[in-house]
Amino acid sequence: MMRIAVLASGRGSNFARLLEEQAAGGGVPYQIVLLGVDRNCPAAETARTAGLALYSAAARLIGMAEWERGFLAQASALGVEGIVLAGFMRILSPQFIASYRGRILNIHPSLLPAFPGRDAIGQALRHGVRQTGVTVHFVDETLDGGPIVLQEAVPVLAGDDEASLAQRIHVVEHRLLPQAVRLLAQHELQVTGRTVTILEG
Ligand code: GAR
Repeated sequence: MMRIAVLASGRGSNFARLLEEQAAGGGVPYQIVLLGVDRNCPAAETARTAGLALYSAAARLIGMAEWERGFLAQASALGVEGIVLAGFMRILSPQFIASYRGRILNIHPSLLPAFPGRDAIGQALRHGVRQTGVTVHFVDETLDGGPIVLQEAVPVLAGDDEASLAQRIHVVEHRLLPQAVRLLAQHELQVTGRTVTILEG
C-alpha cells in the first residue's frame, strides 16, 4: 500500500475522485494520507469533511520555500511515499522534486507537449486544434515536461467554449488519474529516459 499525498489549489474534483475510489474499496493499492493546499480552496474543505490530514498554508504570504518545508515535514511524519499534483498551480523547487524523484505525478489538461503552463484549455481553444486531451506525467524540473505516463485525446467540438470543453476533459481526467496512481503504487511504471514502460501486473 503506497501512502500518497495530493496537492491541489482549486475545486479538487480529481482529488475527490481519488478519495471515492479509495472509499469504494476493491483493493486500491494506494492510501491518500494527506492533502496539501497553497491557498484556501474547495479541495481543502473536501479533506476536512473526509477527516483527512490537511496541510494548508498561504504560499503567497509565506513564500514557496517555507511552504515546501512545512509540507515536507508533515509528509515525512505521515510516511508519504508518493505525491500527486491534481490542479496544483505552483512550481515546485528542484530540491523538492529531488526529494521525491520519480514519485511525483501531475495531471495536465492538454496533450503535452502542446499547451504547457496555465490555461491549457483556453490555449487549445484559441489555437483552434481539433483534438486536445489529458496527460498524466512524472514531474521533473521542467514545466509540464516530465516523462508521460498516460494520455488520452478529447475532441474539440464545434461551438465548444472553455466550460463545455473543460467538462469533457474532466470526465477523462477522473478516469486517467486513478489509473496512473494505481500503476505508480504497484510499481508498474519503469522510466528510461523520457519513455515510461507500463509493466504487466
Ligand atoms: C484539472 O483540469 C487539471 O488538469 C488542471 O487543473 C484542473 C484541476 O481540476 N491542472 C493544471 O492545469 C496544471 N497545470 P480539479 O481541481 O477539479 O481537480
